This record gives sequence, C-alpha cells and structure tokens, in this order.
Amino acid sequence: MASLLRRAREAADGGGVPPTSLIFDCDPGVDDAIALFQAFGAPQALDLLAITTVAGNVGASLTARNARLIRQIAGRLDVPVVPGCERPMVRPPVEAGHFHGESGLGHLPIFEPEAPAYPGHAVDFIVETLMSRPEKTVSLAVTGPMTNLAMAMVREPRIVPRIKAVSAMGGARREGGNITASAEYNIYADPHAAQIVAASGCPLVMLGLDVTHQVRATAERRARIAALPTETARAATNLLTFADEVERRLGTGDDPPQHDLCAIAYLIDPSLFLTVPCRLSVETGSELTLGHTAVEFRLAAGEAGNARWATKADAQGVFDLLTETLARGPVRPA
Ligand code: BDR
Ligand code: CA
Repeated sequence: MASLLRRAREAADGGGVPPTSLIFDCDPGVDDAIALFQAFGAPQALDLLAITTVAGNVGASLTARNARLIRQIAGRLDVPVVPGCERPMVRPPVEAGHFHGESGLGHLPIFEPEAPAYPGHAVDFIVETLMSRPEKTVSLAVTGPMTNLAMAMVREPRIVPRIKAVSAMGGARREGGNITASAEYNIYADPHAAQIVAASGCPLVMLGLDVTHQVRATAERRARIAALPTETARAATNLLTFADEVERRLGTGDDPPQHDLCAIAYLIDPSLFLTVPCRLSVETGSELTLGHTAVEFRLAAGEAGNARWATKADAQGVFDLLTETLARGPVRPA
C-alpha cells in the first residue's frame, strides 16, 4: 500500500518529466466532474490549456456552466473554459440526465460561477492551439461525445498530424453497451464524430467500458475521500454519493464506475492501464447497433492499427492517484 501511494504521489507530481500540455474536452456530468478535479489538481503532470465543453450528458449551456463551477471549487480560475458544439454532427441530441441529474452534477449545490466562459468557440480554440503550438506538443482528453474534436478535424485537417495524443473515454468491446445493447453513451451520442476521429490517423487511446467498469468507487474508496478536509474532496464525495445512489436505483448492485477519470489518469500515468493496438471503427449506419465500436485485435502483418484499446486497469492505482490529488485541494475555511 505504501509503495502504491508513493507511486500515486509521484504520478500526480509529474514524476520529474515536464507536464503534458492538455485540452480537456468534456460534458460535465458527474464523472466528468471527478475527472476535472483530477486534472485541475495535478498541475505538475498536466498543463491545462483549456477545458472545452460540448453538449452531451446535459445541454451545452449546462456543461459549460458546470465546468466553470468545478473550476471555481478547484481554485483554478487560470484555466479557460471554452464552450463548444451545441448538438451532435448528424444525429439528434441524446442526453443522460437519468445518470447525472437535471443540473448534470447530481445533488451538488449549484451556484452561478464568478468567472465567465472564454469568449470564443471550442472548435476554434482547438484548431488555433494545435496550429500555433509546436507539432506534437498538445494532447487532448475527450470524455464526452467527440463533436468538438471531429469538427476541428473537418475544419482544419492539418491539425491531425500535430496532435501528440488523444485519450478518450468511449466505446465498449467485451462489456457491451450502457445506453443501448451494443453502444456506449459517448459514442452513441455522436457516432459520426467518433468515426471521424477514429479514421483520422491521430494517435488515439480508447478507455471504454471494458476498463472503466473495473474502476469503481467502492464504499472503502469513497470513505477515504470523505475523510479528507478539502473543498474538492467534499464536492467529490457529494458527486460519488449521488452516483452510488443512481447505481442502486438502477438495480445494478455495483459501485459507481468512474469512466471519465480513466482518460485523465491514463495521461498522468499510462502504466495504470494495459492497452492493445487495434483496428477501430464505429457503426454509423445501422439503427439497431448505432454507435457500436467494432474493435479488431487481429491485425494483418505490419498493420499498426488506428487506436490502442484499453483492456485492463489498476483500479486501486487510479483511486490512489485521485485521493492523493484531492488531499491537496483547497482546504475548507474553518
Ligand atoms: C460516459 O457517458 C457519460 O454519461 C459519462 O459522463 C461518461 O463520459 C460513460 O458511458
Ligand atoms: Ca462524460
């Protein structure tokens, strides 16, 4: 246990390597909010250039507001929140309020954040950042529908070879779907965007349900977080308690999986996950299996594949990292 904690501390500290320049594209969302706390709380590992938001779990104005609210609790007003696409590329919007509550943040007390959103659009921000920074120095984490990134690729295809890495929460292979029998929510919510990203040739790591279902906020893990005296831990406890109640209401009998946290944890410490090269494509034609991720591990000789697919997670390592990060968050006023 002591060595695991030491490793989590070193990972959150960046392990002596320069921080990864990151655009975090999300649709908060209860589990996006936990992932945001992880990203905001690890400045030695992640140089957050912006949080870009997209319509997904709830509407676009709420996801942008929620990102600003979490930013304020985390005390990171230095990071711009840039609102993005208000609907998927082709299909009608599909929200997930049943998992995230009406506000998108469960039972977290909602307030109007002090600092405004960045006066620009996420798609422009992604294009301008990738075109103006040195090649292969900027990574993206995507934990919502992939609309913003796909739109940026369509708008300016020259960004693709400039991307260092994309770490995306989405898809399912072994686990089946969580919104339909065969599709995971983020991919189902904008399958056309996901297919554009998958086919683009960018360096893509997919953290789908196969691993996120291994990373669960058990009662013991929640209790460790609840015992911390910080604002971020208090908010995280509220969010995780809500997520646990949702799982109980749905009758899964399981502790709540922390899907989006995986995409950030991977960027901080890739050794927490086992990933395998694959050929990935997304179903965009069939009504029955819309958003299904077809993942083929049997590559032809010399074929590199177009993505890496995560198959195994060190769940305790991911939670040690989160707990270590939350322990350093702003402390409540006495
Ligand atoms: C994904 O769907 C959303 O509801 C969550 O925020 C997560 O990104 C899990 O399937
Ligand atoms: Ca999400």
